[in-house]
Amino acid sequence: MAIIAPSILSADFSRLAEEIKDAERSGAEWVHVDVMDGHFVPNLTFGPPVIKAIRKATDLPFDVHLMIEKPELSLADYVAAGADRITVHAEACVHLHRVVHMIKEAGLPAGVALNPATPVSVLEPILDDLDLILIMTVNPGFGGQKFISQTLQKIRTLRSLLKERGRGHVHIQVDGGINPETARLVVEAGADVLVAGSAVFDKQDRAAAIAALRP
Ligand code: DX5
Ligand code: ZN
Repeated sequence: MAIIAPSILSADFSRLAEEIKDAERSGAEWVHVDVMDGHFVPNLTFGPPVIKAIRKATDLPFDVHLMIEKPELSLADYVAAGADRITVHAEACVHLHRVVHMIKEAGLPAGVALNPATPVSVLEPILDDLDLILIMTVNPGFGGQKFISQTLQKIRTLRSLLKERGRGHVHIQVDGGINPETARLVVEAGADVLVAGSAVFDKQDRAAAIAALRP
């Protein structure tokens, strides 16, 4: 069964703690935390102090998606703020192998995200070091965008590559434009962690919204 990770980017920022509790009561497994720096992506959200403040709202794991340049400079702050897993972008790291190992040395599962135009092959040399690969199904920066269907082939390619390498347990996460219809397609293709922002937080009944994402 797929893990559902609601993205608080689409939550009411003036009531973040309540929104997170509502997602937890409604069946979410992880809380997806989108950090944007206004450089790597054309939008700005929040950083370690806000994450530390909302950390008290739930026991669910915080799945921190860093859409920031040079994440190695602030990784320790995200760890200290209460991240349970950290995903960095391949496109934002000149020394990706080093950054992945910094996350692992901090004791956290490490993920790498790929933008829609970045091929799966860039991860081949470090595939054995990863706990999660995030296939972006929109260009990162904003909630509520349309799912890019060419990414389905990337999910299939990655799932078979992982199986070949005996790494079938590694999570394939998808993020962007996930709704009940696209959820079915990405799970068929091999994804097992679904991030959903607007499909959860724009709905009144979050429990029904989360249930509808489980294919
Ligand atoms: C996009 C973020 C996503 C975003 C998804 O840059 O990484 O997590 O919140 O939003 P939806 O599900 O509305 O496309
Ligand atoms: Zn995200």
